Amino acid sequence: MIVDQILRYWEYYRKADTVYNVHSPFIYDFINNVLDVRKNYYAFNALEHERRMLLANSSAVQIVDHGAGSRKKEKMPTIASIAKKVVSPPAKCRTLFNLVNYFRPPTIIELGTSLGLSALYMSRANQATQIHTIEGAPEIHRLARLLFEKNHAYNIHAYKGTFAEQLPLILSSNPVVDLAYIDGHHNYEATISNFNTLLPHLHKNSIVVLDDIYWSAPMARAWNEIKALPQVAMTIDTFDYGFVFFNPDMEKQHFVYIDYLKKPWRIGLFG
Ligand SMILES: C[S@@+](CC[C@H](N)C(=O)[O-])C[C@H]1O[C@@H](n2cnc3c(N)ncnc32)[C@H](O)[C@@H]1O
Repeated sequence: MIVDQILRYWEYYRKADTVYNVHSPFIYDFINNVLDVRKNYYAFNALEHERRMLLANSSAVQIVDHGAGSRKKEKMPTIASIAKKVVSPPAKCRTLFNLVNYFRPPTIIELGTSLGLSALYMSRANQATQIHTIEGAPEIHRLARLLFEKNHAYNIHAYKGTFAEQLPLILSSNPVVDLAYIDGHHNYEATISNFNTLLPHLHKNSIVVLDDIYWSAPMARAWNEIKALPQVAMTIDTFDYGFVFFNPDMEKQHFVYIDYLKKPWRIGLFG
């Protein structure tokens, strides 16, 4: 298993280019405004304080398993253990914050709330954005709602239920999706099915973010199939995330991005 993961990272690493190899102005702007932002926003302190509170909470939580998501499943994990192993780490949450801060999408759908930290980061990036987030485990959904209430995050709408039952309901009252973040049920069938359910609701400036695109061979296959769809104009693969863009005016391109510090010989000095 670990060998498979190393091989998948190597497959990514081999193909990856740094900002110094970018030709597209859109990708260049995306890197500079979303992926490689060193700014420490004021909101981050309060958000990371919430993470520390979760990490210190040893209460056990009843889990309902709705699909792939963790290799070692615990039946009654503590809140601390979920915060450590399931919730997105600070760097990924910051990327989501930057994404919302830069593009200001009016409507976001998040598949996979967990304890709610990723939604809270997106909510803090733009108070006018409406975030609809779905969680299948009732106890986790309840904890996320408490976090949203405590932080007065009135632009987050949390739904309890499976993606398959809740997503069509949300889409029927919110037919236009500007940003979708697919971060749960990491298997091939569910990923393709959720993407296809969202597709008719996207427009040329919509963005879909897929988490864990290298998590397993079936997830990598789902990612490759999504890239090949005729509706998909451009993708950016950062290993952690796959970003999908739909504007047909863009030059069709699948850019694999890595920070130049991880490939220091690709800083453009050597041609
Ligand atoms: C990786 S976590 C989400 C992490 C969160 N977005 C973050 O960035 O911190 C995925 C969550 O999705 C939920 N989930 C997985 N499959 C689901 C499904 N089919 N329907 C509803 N919830 C599901 C799990 O219970 C889990 O809490």
